[in-house]
Order: sequence, then structure tokens, then C-alpha cells
Amino acid sequence: MILNRNAVTAAFERYVSGYNAADPKIKLKIDHTFRVAGLCERIAKATGAADVELAWLCGMLHDIGRFEQVRRYGTFVDAVSIDHATLGADLLFREGLLDLFALDDMTPEALGILESAIRNHSMYRIDEGLNEREKAYCHILRDADKIDIFRVNCDTPMEDIYNVTTEALRASPVSETVKDCFRNRTAVLRSLKQHPADYVVAHLCLVFELMYPVSREIARKQGYVERMLAFQSDNADTKAWFSHMRERIWEI
Ligand SMILES: [Fe+2]
Repeated sequence: MILNRNAVTAAFERYVSGYNAADPKIKLKIDHTFRVAGLCERIAKATGAADVELAWLCGMLHDIGRFEQVRRYGTFVDAVSIDHATLGADLLFREGLLDLFALDDMTPEALGILESAIRNHSMYRIDEGLNEREKAYCHILRDADKIDIFRVNCDTPMEDIYNVTTEALRASPVSETVKDCFRNRTAVLRSLKQHPADYVVAHLCLVFELMYPVSREIARKQGYVERMLAFQSDNADTKAWFSHMRERIWEI
């Protein structure tokens, strides 16, 4: 696919200029967008599973709903506001926002892929009804998004991410059900998280959801997972659990 990346980038910048970039929440999502687009490109290139330009575009538009979400609700927590993936796809594909990006040359198939990738990017599991091509873009975008979540988690103080005091974080146990997710090498459902440290373990379990070996390789090389594993705890059981995870996390 031929894509005018400069035009897309300029349109994205024009769109986000309508939001307050001095707000760290907005700034975070702008940076995240560019990083995810770059990661989509890398994964698409390395795997050959998708068109590199279309994969990059999926990254550029995947979180477009975040800006309206934070303007309307002041939060990124979907559970207490709105599903940001649905909001973004609706704004683009139902409310005309896509016109801003001048993607007139895109085929209906490519537009369908873009829409399904955005709609599915933050779901626990992707829609089973998608075709193989659509699934490939979903997997690339979801991998790229997760890889950057590790960075965001390290660059933002844990107290802010999880909304807890340092004392509560350091004293926190890890729930057995959450440990089981790690043992079973699977993602942690939101409803299982009870303690602050559960959230840290849940973020680490995202490693197991990475679809492509190259994604795991990129995540590992970035070093953010190791930093999350260096979690400081005053709870003896939690300490032992983190050392267990350090030994096992990269095993396949
Ligand atoms: Fe997102």
C-alpha cells in the first residue's frame, strides 16, 4: 500500500492540537501513538505478516479515541468511562474523522482491516470472526501496544499508575489466582486483581500474550520488563514471588 506518512502525521498533529498537550495524559498518548506506529512497522517488517504501511497506519490511529475519552471523562480507565477502542473507531468510521486523514486511495479491504484492528486492539481476546489477514494486523497492533505499555509502566511512577501509596505497594501480597495466571502463562482478567502488586504481575503477564517471537525479542531488549521485575517489596512472599518470576518469565 502506498501511504503518505507525512500527511497522516500532519493530520494527526492537527487533530491532537485541539487537545491540551500540556496535560501529561494527552502528551503520554501522543508519544505512545508514535512509538506504537514504529513498533507496528518493525513487527510487520520482521514477520512479513502484513503490509508495513498499513501496519504503521493502524498504530497511528489505534488510540485516537483516547483524546476524546480524556476530554469527556478525564480518565483513561475504560471501565469507568467508555471503551476507548470503540470510541476511536466510531469517531473515524461513523462520524467522519477519517476524512481528516485523506486516505481516499485506500481500498475497502484496507479500510476494513484498519477498523477491525482499532476495534480489537484492547479486547481481552480478538473477535473470532475475523479473517486471517485481519487477524494478522490485530496481532501486530496488539503486540506493539503491549510492548509500549511496558515502557509507560516504567516511565510513570507505580503509585500514579495504580493509584496507591508507596507503603501499600511495598506491603502488597500477590493473589494466588493471579500467580496461577503467571504459572499458566496467560493474561490476568481484571476481576482477579485485588492487591496493588497483582496489577504489576498482571502487566508482566502481558509478555505471554505477545504473538510473535520478534515482539518478545523487542520487549526483552527494551529492558522495561526487567525493571518491572525489580519491584521493591517489604512483603517476604511477594519478594520470593518476584524472584521466581525473574527466573521464569522468558521461558516459552
Ligand atoms: Fe488503546
